[in-house]
Amino acid sequence: MNKIAVIAGDGIGKETVPEGLRVLDAAARKFSLDLQWDHFDFASCDYYAKHGQMMPDDWKDQIGGHDAIFFGAVGWPDTVPDHVSLWGSLLKFRREFDQYVNLRPCRLMPGIPSPLVGRKPGDIDFYVVRENTEGEYSSVGGRMYEGTDREVVFQQSVFSRAGTDRILKFAFDLAQSRPKKHLTSATKSNGISITMPYWDERVVEMAKNYGDVKVDKFHIDILTAQFVRNPQWFDVVVASNLFGDILSDLGPACTGTIAIAPSANINPERLFPSLFEPVHGSAPDIAGRGLANPIGQIWCGSMMLEHLGHPEAGAAVLTAIEKVLEAGPKNAPFTPDMGGTASTSDLGRAIAEAVAAA
Ligand code: NAD
Ligand code: IPM
Ligand code: MN
Repeated sequence: MNKIAVIAGDGIGKETVPEGLRVLDAAARKFSLDLQWDHFDFASCDYYAKHGQMMPDDWKDQIGGHDAIFFGAVGWPDTVPDHVSLWGSLLKFRREFDQYVNLRPCRLMPGIPSPLVGRKPGDIDFYVVRENTEGEYSSVGGRMYEGTDREVVFQQSVFSRAGTDRILKFAFDLAQSRPKKHLTSATKSNGISITMPYWDERVVEMAKNYGDVKVDKFHIDILTAQFVRNPQWFDVVVASNLFGDILSDLGPACTGTIAIAPSANINPERLFPSLFEPVHGSAPDIAGRGLANPIGQIWCGSMMLEHLGHPEAGAAVLTAIEKVLEAGPKNAPFTPDMGGTASTSDLGRAIAEAVAAA
């Protein structure tokens, strides 16, 4: 039995999570898995409205013993400032559960045209491995001389040796396991003259253990350009927290819609639960109208099944997504972001049926 904490969060999270669960339940029936869902209302701005904080004080006790967390999205900037809602929930999970790997696959799927002319499935198929607990997302900083002409704010990037090496090791291991065995490092060591040269040094050091992995590096500015110009170059791209954040929206945008992109916030040592959430946010502009594409959420379910030791079921969910997409917007229920008119639940149902029929 797997005990999974389910947190829908805000906005379209409340619409995509039920579709994720629908598909996972279909996979559980098909593969005789025992998945237990425990729903939690915290880590949402609704919870904040009632309690004045994003989570109860004992949140760690409530979900820390689960095998995984299935998460929607958080953020409702009209009522709670984003830095308050995010540092009070998602970023807390990442840091306190030491989910230092944020694994974000980026793949051009059948049936969805890429905005990049002439690209077809197979041309874009890489992972962004994002450092997820330190780097530019640090809590070291401050605001001084507030309200005066001398006002100054600063936030210190933090790259520890252990923190850098462990994310690089994960990325190199992943690259080594793939046919192309190619790792690209995102840097900015020409301009950011202390932390980024250090990052480069650690890459060179780690590469010594992986003689069969081809390694290159790009400064982040030209790397974003190459994602658009030459996405076929990439296999595994390892990046700091902020660079990885940016790359993992840009990559999926090159595959037609950010809404299909999943992410796994992993604690590889399994000392804490890992968290599975789409790359996208709560999308206040479309929330509550049944317009959200649930594929990112459903693909997260596939990654979670794999993490929980059910690789066949995980692969079946991904195949079901591909099958439905292959049919194209005329024959399958595509949501508006992919050029269709179907609703969130129409698409979720079609994928669940494809899992059952496989
Ligand atoms: P967003 O990803 O929520 O939305 C960006 C654009 O993409 C919007 O036009 C939205 O409608 C569209 N979009 C996103 N997901 C979609 C889906 N599944 N189907 C169809 N269209 C989709 O990013 P944002 O607008 O910058 O942020 C909105 C809120 O979400 C903010 O509070 C932000 O902090 C938060 N956020 C949370 C997460 C998370 O929980 N992991 C991630 C990103 C942003
Ligand atoms: C993501 C999001 C978060 C991040 C925000 C909401 C704090 O953009 O998961 O990519 O920056 O990590
Ligand atoms: Mn992001």
